[in-house]
Amino acid sequence: MRYGRFDDEHREYVIERPDTPLPWVNYLGCEAYFGLISNTAGGYSFYQDARLRRINRFRYNNAPLDASGRMIYLRQEASRASSEPLYWSPAWQPVRRPLDEYECRHGLGYTVIRSRLGAIAASVRYFVPLGESLEIWDLSLTNLGDRRAQLSVFSAIEFCLWDAWDDQTNYQRNLSIGEVEVEGGVIYHKTEYRERRNHYAYFACSQDPVGFDTQREAFLGPYRGWDAPAALESGTTSNSIAHGWQPIGAHHVRVDLPPGRDSRIIFLLGYHENPPGEKFDPPGSQTVNKRSLLPILERYRRPAEVDAAFQGLREYWDGLLSRFQVRTPDPDTNRTLNIWNGYQMMATFNISRAASSFESGIGRGIGFRDSSQDLLGFVHLVPTRARRRLLDLATTQLPNGGTYHQYQPLTKRGNHAIGSGFHDDPLWLILATAAYLKETGDGDLLDELVPYDNTPGTETPLYEHLQRALRFTLDRLGPHGLPLIGRADWNDCLNLNCFSDTPGESFQTTANKDGEIAESVFLAGLFLLASQEMIGLARFHGRPADADGYRQAAAEMERAVWKAGWDGRWFRRAFDDSGRPVGSKECEEGQIYIEPQGICVIAGLGIDDGRARAALDSVAARLATPHGILLQQPAYSRYYLHLGEISSYPPGYKENAGIFCHTNPWIMIAETRIGRGDQAFDYYRRINPSAREAISDVHKCEPYVYAQMIAGRDAPAHGEAKNSWLTGSAAWAFVAMTQWILGLRPEYGGLRIDPCIPSSWEGFTARREFRGRVLRIEVRNPHRVCRGVAEVKVDGQIVPANIVSTTDLAEGEHSVEVVLGP
Ligand code: BGC
Ligand code: NOJ
Repeated sequence: MRYGRFDDEHREYVIERPDTPLPWVNYLGCEAYFGLISNTAGGYSFYQDARLRRINRFRYNNAPLDASGRMIYLRQEASRASSEPLYWSPAWQPVRRPLDEYECRHGLGYTVIRSRLGAIAASVRYFVPLGESLEIWDLSLTNLGDRRAQLSVFSAIEFCLWDAWDDQTNYQRNLSIGEVEVEGGVIYHKTEYRERRNHYAYFACSQDPVGFDTQREAFLGPYRGWDAPAALESGTTSNSIAHGWQPIGAHHVRVDLPPGRDSRIIFLLGYHENPPGEKFDPPGSQTVNKRSLLPILERYRRPAEVDAAFQGLREYWDGLLSRFQVRTPDPDTNRTLNIWNGYQMMATFNISRAASSFESGIGRGIGFRDSSQDLLGFVHLVPTRARRRLLDLATTQLPNGGTYHQYQPLTKRGNHAIGSGFHDDPLWLILATAAYLKETGDGDLLDELVPYDNTPGTETPLYEHLQRALRFTLDRLGPHGLPLIGRADWNDCLNLNCFSDTPGESFQTTANKDGEIAESVFLAGLFLLASQEMIGLARFHGRPADADGYRQAAAEMERAVWKAGWDGRWFRRAFDDSGRPVGSKECEEGQIYIEPQGICVIAGLGIDDGRARAALDSVAARLATPHGILLQQPAYSRYYLHLGEISSYPPGYKENAGIFCHTNPWIMIAETRIGRGDQAFDYYRRINPSAREAISDVHKCEPYVYAQMIAGRDAPAHGEAKNSWLTGSAAWAFVAMTQWILGLRPEYGGLRIDPCIPSSWEGFTARREFRGRVLRIEVRNPHRVCRGVAEVKVDGQIVPANIVSTTDLAEGEHSVEVVLGP
């Protein structure tokens, strides 16, 4: 069952009823000011950091879900026979009065909610103009009836006291510090501005309001909720000024609408900073200096400026997405690759795993491994931002090559509370840097001087950071010559040194044994991939002699994997602290894990001797389900002290045998490594959100983005997704589909053309911008093969090695004709 439909032409998902199984969310903002917005306008916004610069309050896990956020109310003033006042929310929530019509369009960086009750049609368009730290709520009202309508419009926002964690916990202080100012109809939230903050929030309106409220209690009335505020009941606000308690912003605007007429009201919610020496106006007073803000407000109160800003946003996305467009025989693939996957990768790039419907914005900063992997798919979208991110990540690297697990976006410093010790983290930086270099050819990056742990004076070229990252693994090998696992590798929940028996203790941060025994086969595979990248990097960087060392280290690691990491039919996962295998037929539960099958085969292990095929056949037989591939089997049915968090989840959820979508593309890529395009594409379709749209009632999460997890077959709700939006699945699925299945793969020498597609496809076309050229690629498959390139012609000339090199290509458009077959 569906709750809406895709509108590909406008690049929107159209939600046709407000009561979706979960709030279906979109993101606003592309640069520094971000917001989450649901299909009923719930959600919140923040400037850069979802914890430390939260603009408005949001109640996670509330009942009903998502009942506060960007609130607009409409009230019919007179003319109703009934004495009861008629008021409603055009976005349905928070009043939830049934609407005669409703539609929400989530587009790229904006959301439009339209509805109608009786003769009054309303449409609200929400977006963040490029380059600004504010969001616009652009409300249009139309009177479709034949009588004059006297309406009141109320807006409402509940300000958060900046630090979202403190806001939810420190009431003895917080309920006494709230401060606002109101001037010219603009509500300024200035809590803590009197002391150390130089930023404030504001809520403005294009019309002169007839009233306002800034004290929550005054607007809502005692013991009332957002669904039935006293101000709506009475039809008036009380011009309250918040002193402590809960500061809010609410405007009351009157609209007189003759039949057939419409009216437009623009609300602006934003964040603004003043230089520390210019906080007050007049100087010496305690009044917020608004001088640099007022021109911005002036501008966006004008509808024409709002329209122009919206147009700018549309063009921005047209430009970004046009860098890579495909047309294949599969409409779901086209839709996901051409629209939503790129869009989701922008969200994961911007927000890492910090703020979503499942991440409260207070728990996590920018994850080192997460953001590194996000870059794998993002690099072609905005290469300059990718470059900056690589340097930011490397700046938090520790001198021993290890890394903090996260850094805070506001300070760009490593997060001490979480610390380090996740032994995969540094290796991802190598993969991400290589992806950027292959996309752009920008070799200067490797010479950039970057400090360690943000410490001035410790700078080395980025290339050395990568060398140290590789070294970090080699300095930590275990009894079988495999990498020690540390706190965890990619799988945060396989905690082989943790041994936690204390309720509530965090598996990620609690003191771990300084383990010298537990090893990871997955890390060995990742190390092989990273060392292959280092070999390529060394050559590219003019240091070919370095490659010998990497090659030798890789050869030793490969030997260790075959000696201890192969279980007969698949790769083992790890060795525990007693030296016993994990992910082996010898185990009672958790006999086979997905991660090493993917990573080791991608790294090339067993491709020539049938062992890769055996491993992937084992995946197909034991882990594949119609909803995607499970993380491991059999699920852990009880808690294993020596395995940690993985066995804390009920069977079928998350890392305990859930379908952890992030890992599925690894198997797709591995399948292409052995030439099985049909199988690779079949796996792709199982998790492609668009291909799952028809079962939205089962899937439950948004049908336009990947979710981190889909419940596995051991779970009562097999097929139900959770944790949508912020997941490495977005970048990895994009890489798997575009680089390995479609086979358009950036390499140092150019764009390699090496498709491994379903044999039923007659071909596909793509438009790919690459190093300043536009490649119009047409792949034909007359012999219906999965893989094998018979010929590649660029502008009619056959090219060697199936690589489109840009060195001899002028800027501009070029045709690339590809024929598959023997
Ligand atoms: C989740 C993991 C996540 C980890 C770190 C665990 O509870 O299951 O998926 O990586 O927390 O936040
Ligand atoms: C989600 C985390 O964000 C990611 O870092 C981790 O690799 C996976 N969970 C698997 O545990």
